[in-house]
Amino acid sequence: MKFNSQYFRGKWDKLGGEKERVRYEQIDSFLHRWQPKSILDLGCGDGVLNRRMTYDGFTSFLGVDYAEVSVKMAQKQHFPKADFETHDLLHFTPKDIYDVIILNEAFYYIHDSERTRVLNNILSGLHENGILIVSIFREGATCWEYFKENPKLKEEAFEVVHSTVDDTYWKVGAYSQV
Ligand SMILES: C[S@@+](CC[C@H](N)C(=O)[O-])C[C@H]1O[C@@H](n2cnc3c(N)ncnc32)[C@H](O)[C@@H]1O
Repeated sequence: MKFNSQYFRGKWDKLGGEKERVRYEQIDSFLHRWQPKSILDLGCGDGVLNRRMTYDGFTSFLGVDYAEVSVKMAQKQHFPKADFETHDLLHFTPKDIYDVIILNEAFYYIHDSERTRVLNNILSGLHENGILIVSIFREGATCWEYFKENPKLKEEAFEVVHSTVDDTYWKVGAYSQV
């Protein structure tokens, strides 16, 4: 699987750099706003969000990624109150109910034909008053409609954040359940 060798070779080390900082900060700001006790981070990579997060009011954090190399890298950092597990989002149904679920630059890797099913599975693990946070690079063609036009979701916040390094930007949305 390409992500394993890419994490092994350091291809994704760049996510921890200054260029991408703003999108983690926006997610962190949403966490401060909604104050979740439990957080599920899907497609968590090697734990850059945990390194960037200043929000500390949670009691549990589960990071899930199908690249076991990245999961091991995250586990080795011993982030407080955080566990990391290897699962493929195509076959993953949360075992617990979470106050916040995060899809941080992960949803576009799910094939279009699987997105509705995978999103429904994910939402089965979201508390009825919970918040789904989604970050997508630039325009996110064929992705945002799954959130913005979803009758089960209501958009609570939507921000466009610009890198301070170049002209890259990300869109970060927060959704409650209807
Ligand atoms: C661009 S990286 C983002 C990593 C992390 N969310 C961050 O922003 O620092 C995309 C991540 O999604 C993961 N991913 C892609 N498809 C996945 C799937 N089907 N199941 C689980 N993880 C997946 C990759 O392994 C990779 O770690």
